Amino acid sequence: MQTTIDRRRFLRACGGATLLAMSALTRASPKSTATSSVAAAGTIAIGPGLQVNRFGFGAMRITGPQEWGPPADAAAMKAVLRRALDLGTNFIDTADAYGPKVSEELIAAALHPYPAGLVIATKGGIVRPSAPEWVADCRPAHLRAACEGSLKRLRLERIGLYYLHTVDPEVPLVDSLGELVRLQAEGKIQHIGVSNVTVAELRQARAVATIASVQNSYSAANRRSEDVLIACEQAGIAFVAHTPLARRALTPERRNAQVDALERIAGARGVSMAQAALAWLLTRSPVVLPIPGTSSLRHLEENASSAALRLSADEMKQVG
Ligand SMILES: NC(=O)c1ccc[n+]([C@@H]2O[C@H](COP(=O)([O-])OP(=O)(O)OC[C@H]3O[C@@H](n4cnc5c(N)ncnc54)[C@H](OP(=O)(O)O)[C@@H]3O)[C@@H](O)[C@H]2O)c1
Repeated sequence: MQTTIDRRRFLRACGGATLLAMSALTRASPKSTATSSVAAAGTIAIGPGLQVNRFGFGAMRITGPQEWGPPADAAAMKAVLRRALDLGTNFIDTADAYGPKVSEELIAAALHPYPAGLVIATKGGIVRPSAPEWVADCRPAHLRAACEGSLKRLRLERIGLYYLHTVDPEVPLVDSLGELVRLQAEGKIQHIGVSNVTVAELRQARAVATIASVQNSYSAANRRSEDVLIACEQAGIAFVAHTPLARRALTPERRNAQVDALERIAGARGVSMAQAALAWLLTRSPVVLPIPGTSSLRHLEENASSAALRLSADEMKQVG
């Protein structure tokens, strides 16, 4: 973990440490077809009046390396975004910190005017002084400026779902969320979400605002937010699983028994590890909404075809 920078904390969890290639573990024959639709995942409510397919697209990977600056091929990234919509995606996850600004700008350039029913969820509360730095700034004035910047870049009058990207240890959560509640009252935000929270923080957040969604890192290989998922199930809150493919867990030094079991299941079914990981999430709980991120059309199609996959009770038991 990096040291504290300024008055806020460095957020390694949000950053893009180099991920190692997983090709050797992807025992492929991925089943993707041009007709796969993420609608096969079913739908989920993100607060009253906002229903989306239970399978989204994470738009962090469409920026430059380390989620910094523009991508090498902006036209290719716009094609990925458009193809995501062709495949039934109606929930896109982004943040002002991705690029920074680049992901939101590309989404608007590729998809505006937006089709009816498309929800673009974005986040504020993290700044990027340089490529490796992800620094919390959840002061109310910053959140207001961040939200207004996202509205402009995304060319929206109201953001369907706006997350507090993290909890800033220097700013009381009630103050950060209080500002989001004010932005909501002004009509700039439809629903409020929180990201990278503990159960205790979620409880505090719910005392201040109606929380429509939690977004934490969660996958078969990474269960650190299991208690938060359970709290979301109990409260009927959508749990958006970020980093759903947990590719770092596929490296030899980080492998665990869950990954080994998932690999056996993927091999037996003739699907890729990414598809098995997504199928596990969709099976794990009806409140889980995975948002796999990719810059590749091939991976996008492969991932989308997972929306129809579910693991059996026996397979879930094997993964543990
Ligand atoms: N709230 C937060 O703090 C937070 C933090 C991290 C992420 N997020 C959100 O969650 C989304 C997903 O997280 P993530 O992108 O970090 O992790 P991820 O979805 O688990 O994995 C993405 C990585 O896997 C690769 N990949 C995607 N599909 C693949 C496939 N079928 N086979 C092999 N490799 C594949 C991608 O590379 P290619 O580009 O080559 O496909 C990319 O390197 C982000 O886009 C972002 O919206 C939120």
